[in-house]
Amino acid sequence: MEHRASNQEPAAPRRVLVTGGAGFIGSHLVEHLVGLGHRVTVVDDLSTGHASNLDAVAGRVELIESDLEAAIPSLGKLPRFDRVFHLAATVGVDLVLTDPVRAIEINVGTTSALLAHLASHGKPPTLVASSSEVYGKPGASVFSEDDDTLYGPTTITRWSYAHAKALDEHLAMGYHHSRGLPTVSARFFNTVGPRQRGTYGMVVPRFVESALNGEPLRVFGDGHQSRCFGDVRDIVPALVRLLDSPACHGRVFNLGSDRPVTILELAETVIRTLDSRSTVRLIPYEDAYPSGFEDLRHRRPDLARVREAIGFSPGIGLEQTIRDIAADMRARPAAARGGNGGGA
Ligand SMILES: NC(=O)c1ccc[n+]([C@@H]2O[C@H](COP(=O)([O-])OP(=O)(O)OC[C@H]3O[C@@H](n4cnc5c(N)ncnc54)[C@H](O)[C@@H]3O)[C@@H](O)[C@H]2O)c1
Repeated sequence: MEHRASNQEPAAPRRVLVTGGAGFIGSHLVEHLVGLGHRVTVVDDLSTGHASNLDAVAGRVELIESDLEAAIPSLGKLPRFDRVFHLAATVGVDLVLTDPVRAIEINVGTTSALLAHLASHGKPPTLVASSSEVYGKPGASVFSEDDDTLYGPTTITRWSYAHAKALDEHLAMGYHHSRGLPTVSARFFNTVGPRQRGTYGMVVPRFVESALNGEPLRVFGDGHQSRCFGDVRDIVPALVRLLDSPACHGRVFNLGSDRPVTILELAETVIRTLDSRSTVRLIPYEDAYPSGFEDLRHRRPDLARVREAIGFSPGIGLEQTIRDIAADMRARPAAARGGNGGGA
């Protein structure tokens, strides 16, 4: 039985912690929270995030520049938080393949340490950022939260990210049921928008940057694999509503767009939308990922649960997102965005 939560935003200002708040999704969430009148503390080591992502809220947000695990003891000395959004993680195929040990340590060990801390410091409602990767390689083409999961062998490094995020969800469930910490796990499908960086393998900013430079758009495989791209500005208000609804605590939600686009269509849409002279170049997987990579053909969320729970309905179209990413890239050159080189 699903429960529909209230869409009303809270009236009273709250103290909110956003881990990874200088990152792509985190910085949009911080802006949204500040806009609602909340007092926000960010912990971010700026490994993939950038302080300039918080320029729009400069002076209105406390930024603790630190590795999250190292910062946890000092969080206990601050007034208690009313809400926590845990987004800090090693993100992106390239980083996970480059240093899988570090990725597992951060994505599991740090989450565990944070949840343990919060369970003994006021038990604030806490959202844990998960991923559609948790589905592994399912039989169905539309993914529902209670589906079984099937992962590839442990010799294929990319599956470590899926295992790590699945363990995060288990931790969130465990802390909710046995330690009284209200948690929500949000499984992000491909989330896109201004400030996302292509450096770590993210396809939309990578394509936009190439199109702006008039360079070929490098499509891996045959390009017929499909994804659903959700605009971050549709996603962040949903995160707040999920956590504000006690009926959502102790549960897992898909979050994203449910409109599939093949990567070839995406490349053509980017070129057309930006009126670019770029062409499309197909790159075999073995050339793109020599260390071994298994891609999924299709990945599409069933959004029934989140729709029912909070009335979620993504509204921003892909062309609009592409135009806004391009505008952000033009306004903030690569160095200001933290060295986005475009990637391969
Ligand atoms: N963008 C997507 O499509 C997508 C899809 C699935 C899941 N997610 C999840 O959403 C969350 C945010 O991802 P994003 O796309 O904004 O990526 P991002 O890399 O922009 O954000 C991650 C942030 O965490 C920070 N960080 C990393 N390790 C840290 C540590 N040890 N201590 C403190 N800060 C640390 C980084 O500097 C960065 O600012 C992540 O948990 C990610 O796994 C994102």
